[in-house]
Amino acid sequence: MSARNGREVPDTGEMVVVHRLFRREYEASVAVVRAVAPGDTARSAVVAAHLAALNQMLTEHHLAEDELVWPRLVADPAVDKGLVARMEEQHERIADALGRLERALPDWGTGADAGLRDTVADACAALLPALDEHLGDEERHILPLVPDRFTVQEWARLSERGRAAVPKSHRLYMLAALGEAAGTDRRDEFLGRLPAPVRLLYRVAGPRLRRRTWSHLSGGRAEQRVAAA
Ligand SMILES: [Fe+2]
Repeated sequence: MSARNGREVPDTGEMVVVHRLFRREYEASVAVVRAVAPGDTARSAVVAAHLAALNQMLTEHHLAEDELVWPRLVADPAVDKGLVARMEEQHERIADALGRLERALPDWGTGADAGLRDTVADACAALLPALDEHLGDEERHILPLVPDRFTVQEWARLSERGRAAVPKSHRLYMLAALGEAAGTDRRDEFLGRLPAPVRLLYRVAGPRLRRRTWSHLSGGRAEQRVAAA
């Protein structure tokens, strides 16, 4: 929450950090999935559960925006018609890749079949450019319109729905992933938004859990990436 002309306006910085999380996690997942050996069901199950959590979060992120944001902006003269058409097309490409990913994921998670693994990895890779374009357009063209068109309470509904979409088993990991996605430029902002007990939990356990989880997901190969981030 920040102030403009004495009026409290929504804080859209949180969404930028959530977008970074989606980009980073799906991007890293491509190599993690490809590295799972055929028949290694212990790892395929863990990686599939991670991707299923991400998919659930991304689906809810878009659903909440479709319900709470787009109906208010689609007829707004400040929103270019070309932008709307472009974003709808990106949305379709995201839904298509996400659909392929979700159809292959359960069977790959339980069976670690090589063909399904490649389908999962290819779908993650196909998702990335559409996702990157979509989130980038949103950040450049949509988020700047928010402070004049939404109240703090209206915008907070998006955050509430986003938090509720994180499976319980992945909450601490995603909190730590958000902290990493915040980077040095948004780290203070990120920490400032957390309630004190959650901030403490994050500081005590978050980054360590994230390193451990990535090490587990990647068989140790991705640990360096996370540690260096
Ligand atoms: Fe968004």
